[in-house]
Amino acid sequence: MSYEFILTRTNGRVGIVQFNRPKALNALNRGLMSELMTALEAFDADDGIGCMVVTGNEKAFAAGADIKEMATATPVTMLDNPFIGYWDRLRQIGKPVIAAVSGFALGGGCELAMACDMIVASESATFGQPEINLGIIPGAGGTQRMTYAVGKALAMEICLNGRFLSATEAQQHGLINRIVPVELYLEEAIKFAAEIAARAPVALRLAKEAVNAVYETSLQAGLAHERRLFYMLFSTDDQKEGMDAFINKRPATWHGK
Ligand code: CAA
Repeated sequence: MSYEFILTRTNGRVGIVQFNRPKALNALNRGLMSELMTALEAFDADDGIGCMVVTGNEKAFAAGADIKEMATATPVTMLDNPFIGYWDRLRQIGKPVIAAVSGFALGGGCELAMACDMIVASESATFGQPEINLGIIPGAGGTQRMTYAVGKALAMEICLNGRFLSATEAQQHGLINRIVPVELYLEEAIKFAAEIAARAPVALRLAKEAVNAVYETSLQAGLAHERRLFYMLFSTDDQKEGMDAFINKRPATWHGK
């Protein structure tokens, strides 16, 4: 399938989506977000793919929602528009998604990276929610996910005062997984994704679901949810295979069943 605003490719069991609006610093317009979700949902449905990487370019992961497209919006046009809903659709992707971030990850771009499961950042990555400078607030999860990740004190600075986080600060505060030199960040993210993609597919989906449940539930409900998923995995061939392989000191072969 050919797209206008993104490029897609595969590398073994890794599906890669790259934003392709370099002149606009990969500002996220409706077309780009729609294509992104079409591509990710296709990878999610493809048994040959185990993990996905979403990326931009060295200068910008994405500098936010497209301000030019949003400038004339009203509450009613916003309500009628699926745009913000694309971040919810990202949440519904079952397989792991890694954001490979270099340069600007601002506004909706930062919110997109945070809606992924893990973030591999280049040394030049810059995270922020500068919507306050436009007279608005983050609208695709920034106030919530940033606060969960870095805590209230810093999230207030980021959302109320447009403070940017460097890659080092983002790592110190638990927002990202690792920092890689700019020339290697995408390669490293794909390598990381390939490691994950080689793991037992059903267990991967349920592990992702269980970790994400932390954001939705109390500890007690989360523990009960985890236990049900844990028990459920004992009905899979992969569990029998993984444990037999361990006991017989051989590598496991996963079938995703
Ligand atoms: N929307 C539309 N176009 C954008 C854009 C955005 N979010 N960010 C950058 N661009 C465009 C610029 O308009 C410019 O285009 P032209 O050459 O046609 O003028 C081009 O990208 C390059 O940008 P700059 O010349 O500004 O580049 P810079 O290196 O001087 O500055 C920057 C980089 C600091 C990221 C600056 O571009 C900037 O502040 N961008 C806006 C960031 C922002 O406010 N993001 C939040 C958007 S609102 C949002 O995301 C809401 C939400 O929660 C969903």
